[in-house]
Amino acid sequence: MASARGEFRSRLGFILAAAGSAVGLGNIWGFPTQAASNGGAAFLITYLVLAFVLAYPALMAELLIGRHTHRNMVQALPTLSSQPSLARFGSLAGLGGLITASLILSFYAIVAGWMLGFTTAYPLELVGLSGPSTWLVSFGAPRNLTLMLVFMGLTMGVVLGGVEDGIERWSRRLMPLLIFTLIALALYVLTLDGALRGLSVYLLPDISKVLSGELLIDALGSAFFSLSLGVGTMLIYGSYLSDSEHVPSVGAQVALLDIGIAVLAGFLILPAMYAADARGVAIFNESGGLLSEDTLIFSVLPALFSTMDTVGIWLATAFFLLMSIAALTSSISMLEVPVAYLIERYGLSRSRATVLAGGVIAGVSATIVIHFEALFGLVITVSTRYGQPLLGIAICIFAGWVWRRDALLTELKKNDLAADQRLFWRVWPAYVKWVCPLIIGIILVQSVV
Ligand code: PHE
Repeated sequence: MASARGEFRSRLGFILAAAGSAVGLGNIWGFPTQAASNGGAAFLITYLVLAFVLAYPALMAELLIGRHTHRNMVQALPTLSSQPSLARFGSLAGLGGLITASLILSFYAIVAGWMLGFTTAYPLELVGLSGPSTWLVSFGAPRNLTLMLVFMGLTMGVVLGGVEDGIERWSRRLMPLLIFTLIALALYVLTLDGALRGLSVYLLPDISKVLSGELLIDALGSAFFSLSLGVGTMLIYGSYLSDSEHVPSVGAQVALLDIGIAVLAGFLILPAMYAADARGVAIFNESGGLLSEDTLIFSVLPALFSTMDTVGIWLATAFFLLMSIAALTSSISMLEVPVAYLIERYGLSRSRATVLAGGVIAGVSATIVIHFEALFGLVITVSTRYGQPLLGIAICIFAGWVWRRDALLTELKKNDLAADQRLFWRVWPAYVKWVCPLIIGIILVQSVV
């Protein structure tokens, strides 16, 4: 039987859960490494601009639709229109979101598994178990498969607990730990020789790169990925938000936390790279460019840590633990998308829905592990570079064109009687109607051409 819908117990619980979804490998790994190879601060500026002018309004569209309908994405969009053809388009876009969220989780779980492997490998090394330790950090299908399954198990464990006792409780525990670890690591790394060079690369823009098309689509993809947009994760979290909360301001806090943590991670990753360089670890390839993103995390940083004896072991453990936590608070939001749909559409119990959705996604993930060369990059490109922005356009269209203005205003007035006099009401509806779809569309088309 369908159970009563969950609801976040507190505003802080919601903010930490939504920021937990947003803050993930995208922030701590993707953003800093892309910044490093795309002209440092040039990328940072482009990213910040896109995050504020496109990603925040799109985030608001998802949160508001979710809170208004109190439904999952597949069922939420159709309720905004009484026209059957639009309703059908809404369900299709919703299903597209559900599939994209599941695809993202299927590759994310593999990468997050590697993070778990590195987290446990260092302490094992310390107690002399170098055999298992080496296995955990060496690329290979059995190891990838095992760790992916462990990570999926953790994700399913949290989602099984439901909105309050699973998602909210774990986000409240893990997010403060994540922020504390990130700040502590960045402060330590900044004291190392060479770190300041990394800092200057991060903060001095290479202006020639700011407007290049490649950089724009990368920064847009990055901002959408980072705010978990287009796939219904923010929509479903919004749907669990109490009617007494003021969505524009809690949404702004989530966006600020997400962007702030990405920027903060840059203060860790870039200085760490240049500190590694100062210790003789290669960080550039033959053509003078920076080594690719995965090499950076899985070989440059471990090489840096290995120049530091026992301190290095603790640093490495803390760093990969940070990555694992960031990944887990994101993966639970991805899994919640199909789980909520199965519960609300088919009346499944939460445990059945979790096992079913988690099992299918683990199966897809296992297929990717087995055909790694052919599938891994492809799934990432299809789901994040094109899927997310395209679905983002669909959601903006629903928020701006399909959703009736008076219904939107009623939604905003639920907890702010003067909503119609606010800047948000004056700007956002027209903005999400015209500007968001247009700019996202232009950047997408440009990247294909
Ligand atoms: N925002 C997450 C990150 O930065 C990834 C994510 C994408 C989460 C889509 C949910 C949905 O890693």
